[in-house]
Amino acid sequence: MPVVLVHGGAWAIPARWRADTVAGCEAAADVAWAVLAAGGSAVDAVVAAVRSMEDHPTLSAGVGAAPDAHGELRLDAALVRGTDLACGAAAWLPPTRHPIDLARAILDHSPHVLLVGPDALAFGAPYGVSPCAPEELALPPDVAGIVWGCDTVGAVALDDAGRLASALSTGGTPGRHPARVGDVPLIGCGTYADDAVGAAAATGSGEGIIRVVLARSCLADLEAGQHPQAVAEARVQAMTARTGLTGGVILLDRHGQTGLFHTTPAMCWARRGGAGSASGWAA
Ligand code: GLY
Repeated sequence: MPVVLVHGGAWAIPARWRADTVAGCEAAADVAWAVLAAGGSAVDAVVAAVRSMEDHPTLSAGVGAAPDAHGELRLDAALVRGTDLACGAAAWLPPTRHPIDLARAILDHSPHVLLVGPDALAFGAPYGVSPCAPEELALPPDVAGIVWGCDTVGAVALDDAGRLASALSTGGTPGRHPARVGDVPLIGCGTYADDAVGAAAATGSGEGIIRVVLARSCLADLEAGQHPQAVAEARVQAMTARTGLTGGVILLDRHGQTGLFHTTPAMCWARRGGAGSASGWAA
């Protein structure tokens, strides 16, 4: 039975925005579920989910990206296919509407795993990935200034053929140093998938996530037979205890069992399939 679990970021979601961020997650989970229900692959499902969330203004990837300290928008995205551990990751991208499409193009068409900067975006041109005006990613005035902090969107999926995939996209953390890159494009930190084990997608402080290599560490625990919920709780709590930094993770094992946890005040998410449809803004 297929499963998809998505998150729209872990942060202090103000009460008045919780319903909207959860709605963005539900819409993404529905799009991905339609892919899976039609027999599509886990990779297609997580890309569809992340694309949907990149368009959602109160989720801060794609539209709603956060400027760095110089006021520039720089975007990151990554995709992992659990069948053959193929990866596509892109970092420090100039404005583009769907960074996850570039991660997909790199996975499908490049011998490399990670491409960075304007030349990375140029790689996507033959595959329909193009720059956009920064204004296209700007938040509507009633949203601007409120939603920053909801840094990342992510999805994990298991398809009918038993294939797993994970995807992430981020508009970055607000006011970061201009050359800073977080966990999202660093495979094994923010994201990982392995058909033999499970899939993980993180959110929150990239510096904390990198320091504990969160995604691959979670898969090591799944490999040892632990339940995804127990793994999510233990690994995210340990990250915060060791580094003082907060975040969250969504997990899916090869049996379709899910888990999620955050040490931020909230994390919006939605699930379809598996133990049933569900959504929320807290674990
Ligand atoms: N988790 C996203 C970032 O730190 O860039």
